[in-house]
Amino acid sequence: MSTTLKTISQVDALRQQLATYRREEKTIALVPTMGNLHQGHLCLIEEAKNHADVVVATIFVNPLQFTPGEDYESYPRTLAADQAMLTDAGCDLLFTPSIEAVYPNGQENQTRILVPVVSEGLCSQKRPGHFDGVATVVTKLFNFVQPDVACFGQKDYQQVAVIRKLIEDLSFTIKIIEVPTHRTPEGLALSSRNGYLTPEQLKKASSLYAVLKNMASALAAGNTHFHELTHTARARLAEQGFAPEYVEIRNLDLSSASPNAKSWVILIAARLGKARLIDNLIVQRDSN
Ligand code: PAF
Repeated sequence: MSTTLKTISQVDALRQQLATYRREEKTIALVPTMGNLHQGHLCLIEEAKNHADVVVATIFVNPLQFTPGEDYESYPRTLAADQAMLTDAGCDLLFTPSIEAVYPNGQENQTRILVPVVSEGLCSQKRPGHFDGVATVVTKLFNFVQPDVACFGQKDYQQVAVIRKLIEDLSFTIKIIEVPTHRTPEGLALSSRNGYLTPEQLKKASSLYAVLKNMASALAAGNTHFHELTHTARARLAEQGFAPEYVEIRNLDLSSASPNAKSWVILIAARLGKARLIDNLIVQRDSN
């Protein structure tokens, strides 16, 4: 059922509206996004509704998390369509701040949040500084909204790890809700950047999930030859026309994979045409 979606761009107006919710003793869930919403984002909204009385979504294409030469300028901005989707999904409030509202002293002068260790490697190899940008904007959004819970998608596994550590290290009391990746029937993880794929590439893109599942079966069955598994997976991806950035098996806390662990996460980033796709799968070792 549709509710009325309030859209607010000014920080003061946001704070006033949030104060009203708090006077009414309502709990608040935050769903931060960069817009160009898809079903995966709507799952975050759905989950947020299960954990709080009021759902606040944010749309802000954060320049600090793009590295030079990336798609910051061309990142799809589809506010009217996003508002319609959020209205249908029953979101209560949408915050769409300007760059000046988020970084009033300018991007260069902005105090940064740097989350050590978990920010390193994986996506940071090709996107240096990306997680400093994410951590900085998420900290600002936490301070603007002061939510009780915040929802993030499991597709961005390393991002969630960074945000969990940030919450702990900066003593936020926000509960993180991690929402499983929403996939097409063929297994492709939904992402705003899938829009960069041609129809032909879109068909191919789901083979990334097939590669993840193959690796997962081998690991679950007790094959802990991590190097061999990742090497074979890279070769499979390359055969399918992907340019793999990384294929890694890690412990769930992103430390180096231990052969005797009970579960692992497989993480892949690969380019296909103009799109950079990331995906991951958690694997439990078979108990028998
Ligand atoms: O996952 C995203 O869309 C972004 O990284 C986030 C968390 C909204 C921060 O800009």
